[in-house]
Amino acid sequence: LDPKSHVSETIPKLVDELLSNNNEDQIAIRQGVRYVARLVQQQKQKLTSQQQLPIPEAQPLELKLSEYGLIDNLNWQPIQRRPPKAQEVEIQVKAVGLNFRDVLNALGLLKEYYAQVLGITNVEQLTLGLECVGVIASVGDNVSQWQVGDEVMAFVPNGFSSFVTTAAEFVMAKPKQMSFPEAATLPLTFFTAYYGLQHLAKIQPGERVLIHAAAGGVGQAAVQIALQAGAEVFATASPPKWDFLKSLGVQQIMNSRTFDFASEIMHLTQGAGVDIVLNSLNGEFIDKSFAVLYQVRIISYNKTGIVAG
Ligand SMILES: NC(=O)c1ccc[n+]([C@@H]2O[C@H](COP(=O)([O-])OP(=O)(O)OC[C@H]3O[C@@H](n4cnc5c(N)ncnc54)[C@H](OP(=O)(O)O)[C@@H]3O)[C@@H](O)[C@H]2O)c1
Repeated sequence: LDPKSHVSETIPKLVDELLSNNNEDQIAIRQGVRYVARLVQQQKQKLTSQQQLPIPEAQPLELKLSEYGLIDNLNWQPIQRRPPKAQEVEIQVKAVGLNFRDVLNALGLLKEYYAQVLGITNVEQLTLGLECVGVIASVGDNVSQWQVGDEVMAFVPNGFSSFVTTAAEFVMAKPKQMSFPEAATLPLTFFTAYYGLQHLAKIQPGERVLIHAAAGGVGQAAVQIALQAGAEVFATASPPKWDFLKSLGVQQIMNSRTFDFASEIMHLTQGAGVDIVLNSLNGEFIDKSFAVLYQVRIISYNKTGIVAG
């Protein structure tokens, strides 16, 4: 429904849609215009100045959410740059990693969790963009490892900004052979997968590891880390992504949208199961994942549906 229209205008349109025979399952009415969801190939063309989002060069900006629930509620707001303190650096942002969590944040799905755990009770306190890539713009007094002009990747609280200031220890050098957008895909995904598989699970050569949603960002990183460690990878993904996973070197691939993986793994391993599960799915996927574990080494990195104890 159009949040900007009066309910007397939107309700008849909603009724029309509900009573119509079309097969659309995502419809948005905006200022009287009906939109439906379509995926189309983007044509390579230069946008006209009217089509481009105007972003003033001189004014530093940050992407902010005005109201939970709709991605349309995102807009750029002017900010003041914050000079780095003694152990901090300031980065001029060139590219930002867009994470599942940013989408959950914009839709307000983590609202209660944020209020309880982080004390974020007002949408204006919410920041977006957990990682970014850019160029060091200034350094704090006690920072010797970074210099102005260095190309870096970093964990930051508000990456969707022209400039961010963050702790120097959250900054890493950008691989020279990678572009800024390519490097922006690395920090969180590889950190999460590395921390789970190497630091917590202490993955060993020859071990069997089940990686759920292996075609996702963390999943792809986990596949690479597990294969590099000499482990045998069992992966779940949607069937259209199976060829892609095969191209990464994964041989045992199962469906991420059904629970069949549990019986398939027991069959493939002659009842032995796997040594490690790296999981981001919740609900019954967790119970089924425990069922195929040889020992208890399950690393769950999702935010909801975590089993206690
Ligand atoms: N705790 C942490 O530190 C941490 C760090 C990073 C990420 N995370 C969390 O881990 C999860 C995965 O992150 P990511 O960056 O890898 O995300 P991503 O790149 O968007 O991948 C998510 C994957 O989930 C699968 N999936 C299963 N059911 C789904 C559904 N109903 N709708 C959409 N996707 C579904 C999809 O794979 P298929 O289509 O193949 O099923 C998709 O590839 C997110 O919940 C994220 O918030 C946590």
